Amino acid sequence: MRSMRALSLSLSIFAGAAVATTESTGKASIHDLALQKWTVTNEYGNITVPGKFPSQAHLDLHAAGVIGESNNGLNDFDLRWIAAQNWTYTSKPISGLSKHSDIATWLVFDGLDTYATVKFCDHIVGTPDNQFRQWFYDVSSALASCKSDPVLSINFGSVPRIINAINASDEVQHWPASVVYPFEYPNRQWVRKEQNDFGWDWGPAFSPVGPWQPGRIVQLSKGGELYSLNTDIDIFRKGQFNNFAPDQTAPWVVNASLDFLGTLPKHASMSVIITDASDSRSVLYSGKLEGVTQSDMTVTGSVTIDAHKPKLWWPRDMGNQQLYNITVSVSSAGSKTPILVSQRRVGFRTILFSSGNITDAQIASGITPGNNWHFEINGHEFYAKGANLIPPDAFWPRVTSDRMNRLFDSVESQNFNMLRVWSSGTYLPDWIYDIADERGVLLWSEFQFSDTLYPDSDDFKANVVGEITYNVRRLNHHASLACWMGGNEFENLMLPIAQGADPATYPYVLGQYENLFITTLFNVLAANSHSISYSPCSANNGWLEIDLDLPVPIVERYYNTTSGHIYGDTDFYNYDTSVSFDTSAYPVGRFANEFGFISMPSIQTWQQAVDPEELSFNSTTVILRNHHYPAGGLTRNIHNSTLGQVEMTLAVERYYPTPDKTDPVANFSSWCHATQLFQADMYKSEIQFYRRGSGLPERQLGSLYWQLNDIWQAPTWAGLEYDGRWKVLPYVSRRTYEHVIASAFWNYTANELEIWVTSDLWEPVAGEVSLTWVDLKGKPIANNAGMTKSTKFNVGAINTTQIITANIQSDLKIPDTSDAVLVIELTAHGKLPNAASSKTTTFTHHNHFLPVWPNQAKVSDPKLHLSYNKSTKKFTVEATAGVSLYTWLTHPAGVLGFFDDNAFVLRPGEKKEVGFTLQQDTTGGKWTEQVTVESLWDLTTP
Ligand SMILES: *[C@@H]1O[C@H](CO)[C@@H](O)[C@H](O)[C@H]1NC(C)=O
Ligand SMILES: *[C@@H]1O[C@H](CO)[C@@H](O)[C@H](O)[C@H]1NC(C)=O
Ligand SMILES: *[C@@H]1O[C@H](CO)[C@@H](O)[C@H](O)[C@H]1NC(C)=O
Ligand SMILES: *[C@@H]1O[C@H](CO)[C@@H](O)[C@H](O)[C@H]1NC(C)=O
Ligand SMILES: *[C@@H]1O[C@H](CO)[C@@H](O)[C@H](O)[C@H]1NC(C)=O
Repeated sequence: MRSMRALSLSLSIFAGAAVATTESTGKASIHDLALQKWTVTNEYGNITVPGKFPSQAHLDLHAAGVIGESNNGLNDFDLRWIAAQNWTYTSKPISGLSKHSDIATWLVFDGLDTYATVKFCDHIVGTPDNQFRQWFYDVSSALASCKSDPVLSINFGSVPRIINAINASDEVQHWPASVVYPFEYPNRQWVRKEQNDFGWDWGPAFSPVGPWQPGRIVQLSKGGELYSLNTDIDIFRKGQFNNFAPDQTAPWVVNASLDFLGTLPKHASMSVIITDASDSRSVLYSGKLEGVTQSDMTVTGSVTIDAHKPKLWWPRDMGNQQLYNITVSVSSAGSKTPILVSQRRVGFRTILFSSGNITDAQIASGITPGNNWHFEINGHEFYAKGANLIPPDAFWPRVTSDRMNRLFDSVESQNFNMLRVWSSGTYLPDWIYDIADERGVLLWSEFQFSDTLYPDSDDFKANVVGEITYNVRRLNHHASLACWMGGNEFENLMLPIAQGADPATYPYVLGQYENLFITTLFNVLAANSHSISYSPCSANNGWLEIDLDLPVPIVERYYNTTSGHIYGDTDFYNYDTSVSFDTSAYPVGRFANEFGFISMPSIQTWQQAVDPEELSFNSTTVILRNHHYPAGGLTRNIHNSTLGQVEMTLAVERYYPTPDKTDPVANFSSWCHATQLFQADMYKSEIQFYRRGSGLPERQLGSLYWQLNDIWQAPTWAGLEYDGRWKVLPYVSRRTYEHVIASAFWNYTANELEIWVTSDLWEPVAGEVSLTWVDLKGKPIANNAGMTKSTKFNVGAINTTQIITANIQSDLKIPDTSDAVLVIELTAHGKLPNAASSKTTTFTHHNHFLPVWPNQAKVSDPKLHLSYNKSTKKFTVEATAGVSLYTWLTHPAGVLGFFDDNAFVLRPGEKKEVGFTLQQDTTGGKWTEQVTVESLWDLTTP
């Protein structure tokens, strides 16, 4: 382990090298590389196509018709020749640059993917090696030596080849194979590139290369022009320190720290103006910053603002998303004209990730001892509801803001307040955090490391410090930034695997982990942010001590546990579907950050990527696109993929009617749908269980399902298919994440039924639950099967209460349990957090309970009728002959959006109006005629 002294030295070097993009002032002239003409050439020189900037080679090859769409068919295997060679992006000669000796010329790249040789006018000016950093090079002398207009060329090395070579060298250390298990391409631990580019259990492995982020040439007068590279705005309560609860009555400190290119004269001054982001005349603060310090590339100052003057930013459904614009200006001593200006949009809020010991006061209130593991916004505990975000595409340059806004529509519509930005994709661009700031969706953010061990050699660590410094500073101002975690699944997965694989080297491996993920990275975070809490990874048991003066500044609890106590979060997968609905098999923890099961995407989504003749459950293409379980290498591992197909098949066979249709495509479609029903029911069961835990001794305060979205068209854990189409899951999670829910818990071995009401409101709430037993023709069951027809409840803030307990066999009188359904309808009146005291809201929730598995239910044809009203733009669905279970509206390809409700129960005679949130329509409105409706019954028809 290295000493703190060495660390602070490397910090001071890399704090300066930390950098991002955006505005500049003065007469700096900016030449956007997107406006230049580019070609892309392969290693052998026999493929040259026009290029874009930003871009990646696969995208440009596709645009030129050299390859088809990468996501299609078996291109995951067939396009590996692209990753196996080098690709060079070459500009046409760049005109319009000044060669005046008084001008400094810089190349600034916001991201290069990944190993590159950058040449400007035939001079090598840099060899970047980290996808996640901003790179900038002084090319003044290269330009001066240029006889004509300069050419910029960027040669991107084949990443698999380079990391294999690193792995083969004697210099690197080798861990047991079980801790560096490859999904497809091996050796990703050596490279700072999106780790899922090498394959994951839900995605392909393209290992793309290219200038994936914008870039520019910046020309500055040496006489004092500056260019702003990155800006760190840190807003915190006075005295606040990352992982500790701040004093909510303390004044705010606004610390602004600007990274720049150019020469800043000594004794610069800084000023700031903070206005309402929607009204520039409403000024919160205007004045000088105090305590200005400057170094070669950074200038920093701060100001204190009265504790109660700013309006607070809250996550959605907890209050307003009040944002402010902050403009920071830097001027030379004695001058009023700024030479550097940087603007950001910020919010005033504290967000704590609390994972220290459960206190005596908490124990006295009924909470089980152990560690906390939850979030607090502005000093309030809240229940975190959401899912895990993976990269929305294997190729980031084609991710548009339209796409991400549609994705966030689906996030809000599922009643989420948080997403976990899972490592190992990339650090998200600022514009995605902007969307989250506006919509009030907290982003639990992670450094991009996952599911392997990583080295802690000096050069690797220095590269990572540059990466973390840049990204922490770049993203720190976003109100939606909820925390930083070092990576994914180290303490509760990788370290135990490493210990099991080789107990003798484990202390060394643990030391490496602590050196990189605690000592190094926590110090980087603490040096650049007072406002954001840190945990070295997700899935752990919390911390015992935090003190920057300790050799390892966070002492993790690891397995220093006491039986019966509760620690940390849970990360839970059980692919044995015989126990999928057994709540006693679910983990009891403080927070569920991952849980789930795979399902097939819909036929409409399969049709985007798979040829018609391959559209069947067990076709080679469909099987090989299932990466659960991963191939473990570059082979076409039918065996491993089939295991995942078998799990889904067994799940359907155990619980749902098994489709057996004569039309093969219809049969495939029904099977896909059936896997989605299982997935949705299983997640619902888990979410209800975790939410109920908010009022039980475990004080469970969050559930984020795995996974929100898809990177391609394949069987995965996703709720949203590749183009954003909703599976069954999002409709069910939307209902299950209503504020006040009534949920059935069925102990099916004892045949005990309990119904609980759970609320995540911050004040007690009262209401009523109606309970209606009917048979599957819709006829009321006599005497409501002996159950009360309605019951009133009171439930405390973020708490739960049991309203019904009954043995189905002995307490209820159900003539035939396979011909019965309980319809549960809740209504409550209460207050949303921070709502005006006069403003009450009516909360409703619809649920149902079948006392048998759906494949035992005696469903009959409900004879559904569907109509569309052009003026109200609503569909009406009616069941005319029987109870419709899992009533399912499908929209055709060509439109994007989602229904107001779906997968619902409809009794005969009930008419339900369903609207549609239309996000995109390429059918000219014709889609409404192609919407279909089905139900569980349709799985059984030939
Ligand atoms: C380019 O050259 C390489 C190496 O000689 C060869 O394998 C490949 O087939 C060639 N590709 C094309 C498109 O000609
Ligand atoms: C605040 O800044 C954003 C860009 O960050 C800008 O779009 C908006 O117009 C600004 N608001 C005002 C009131 O100037
Ligand atoms: C937390 O509890 C552990 C015992 O489980 C104890 O060793 C540690 O000192 C406690 N930490 C703090 C900050 O009180
Ligand atoms: C997948 O295949 C690899 C061989 O490439 C094997 O080592 C691994 O155990 C398999 N995984 C599963 C879950 O069967
Ligand atoms: C939840 O409600 C129960 C019953 O009213 C109460 O005893 C318990 O303290 C509450 N839990 C929390 C965390 O407020």
